Amino acid sequence: MSRLAPVVIDNGTGFTKMGFAGNNDPSFIQPTVIATRDGGASSSAPSVPSKPSFLNSSSSSNIASKRGIEDLDFYIGDEAVANSKTYALNYPIRHGQIENWDHMERYWEQSIFKYLRCEPEDHSFLLTEPPLNPPENRENTAEIMFESFNVQGLYIAVQAVLALAASWTSSKVSEQTLTGTVIDSGDGVTHVIPVAEGYVIGSSIKSVPIAGRDLTSFVQNLLRERGENMIPAEDSLTVAQRIKEQYSYVCPDIVKEFKKYDQEGEKYFKKYEGVHSVTGKPYTVDVGFERFLAPEIFFNPEIASSDYLTPLPEVVDNVVQTSPIDVRRGLYKNIVLSGGSTMFENFGKRLQRDIKRIADTRIKRSEVLSGGKMQSTPMEVNVISHKKQRYAVWFGGSLLASTGEFHSYCHTKAEYDEVGPSIARHNRVFGTLG
Ligand SMILES: Nc1ncnc2c1ncn2[C@@H]1O[C@H](COP(=O)(O)OP(=O)(O)OP(=O)(O)O)[C@@H](O)[C@H]1O
Ligand SMILES: [Mg+2]
Repeated sequence: MSRLAPVVIDNGTGFTKMGFAGNNDPSFIQPTVIATRDGGASSSAPSVPSKPSFLNSSSSSNIASKRGIEDLDFYIGDEAVANSKTYALNYPIRHGQIENWDHMERYWEQSIFKYLRCEPEDHSFLLTEPPLNPPENRENTAEIMFESFNVQGLYIAVQAVLALAASWTSSKVSEQTLTGTVIDSGDGVTHVIPVAEGYVIGSSIKSVPIAGRDLTSFVQNLLRERGENMIPAEDSLTVAQRIKEQYSYVCPDIVKEFKKYDQEGEKYFKKYEGVHSVTGKPYTVDVGFERFLAPEIFFNPEIASSDYLTPLPEVVDNVVQTSPIDVRRGLYKNIVLSGGSTMFENFGKRLQRDIKRIADTRIKRSEVLSGGKMQSTPMEVNVISHKKQRYAVWFGGSLLASTGEFHSYCHTKAEYDEVGPSIARHNRVFGTLG
């Protein structure tokens, strides 16, 4: 059996990162969107045949024979976006979870054959899942991977665990901990996930309904309200996203930040230069307070909504406090950032400061309550910003899938043929072998 580099695919709500294990970066980063002719009328359930399909002896990977030829008329990623005028755009993943399996299967099909250009039967696949993904979703994924694509092996990893591995800066095995708190903030959702020795502490996970997409629409609203009417309507979301990505940063104190803009405007106000997507005419947009206000939503959510009010540092503290007492120190000590929406300048610094304040206040309070009899050692709080943060989940997958043991963690085609999709319900935690 040939052992080619495993394929690593991280399908996110907004973007899919795909490539081969052992590489530093994904080979392709594409929006997780598929453009179809049918307007997305297809079912959101997997195409499960009436007889359990794992009993079918044929394991043909010839998808065209399974579907009508018209089914090949679709695009994914950037090409899908480019064809949005004549095709319907569908987003198969919502809030991190696959919702439309038919679209997802087709998305994978082009990812594998058109972009990665590999023969799935020659590769093992590492795919990722959000925390608390229902086991049925893993079964559906296994069914598609083994039956439609005939992959050699499959491992489904929890995104947070991969993100922890991605933050390792040391090659010393003794310093490679799989204990820590992961803050994974992408496009559709932000999760705070405590992990102890590679195992996710499921009962303490919290999700925060603020992520990249919300920040983008907040910027878009500010621009609109301010009357930045040079921006063509069809470009307004893209412009807002670019302004957010290029100019936004986290400040230590918004009151002081407003003052700085008042006093030294020329230093802080920026100009965004755009080109009209249809007419090709250049235009400029003033960029102001949204620079620091957009990511401030994580720290003061009431700026953008009255429904969700808990600041992210408080959520992180809460996640640690609800985890077993013996791992709490380890969880505060290694808070790891992952995902596009953690990329704002000073994001980690501010989080660290605010979490430390909360932890210190608690310690002080219990000291006072004990009448000075209890002296606790201060809590070490570290928020780790690292080089691989942007695509941390993918990179962690690349790292783990390139280890010698990876294949022994994979479910194989032979196992699948014998047992069926239920084999994918559980995936062994890395580091638990040998
Ligand atoms: N430099 C940056 N600064 C701020 N935000 C950024 C930056 N680069 C990308 N983003 C934002 O990150 C988001 C995409 O992040 P990511 O690829 O981690 O999400 P995803 O994996 O698709 O989504 P999810 O993890 O929620 O399922 C987008 O909203 C994008 O605008
Ligand atoms: Mg993601």
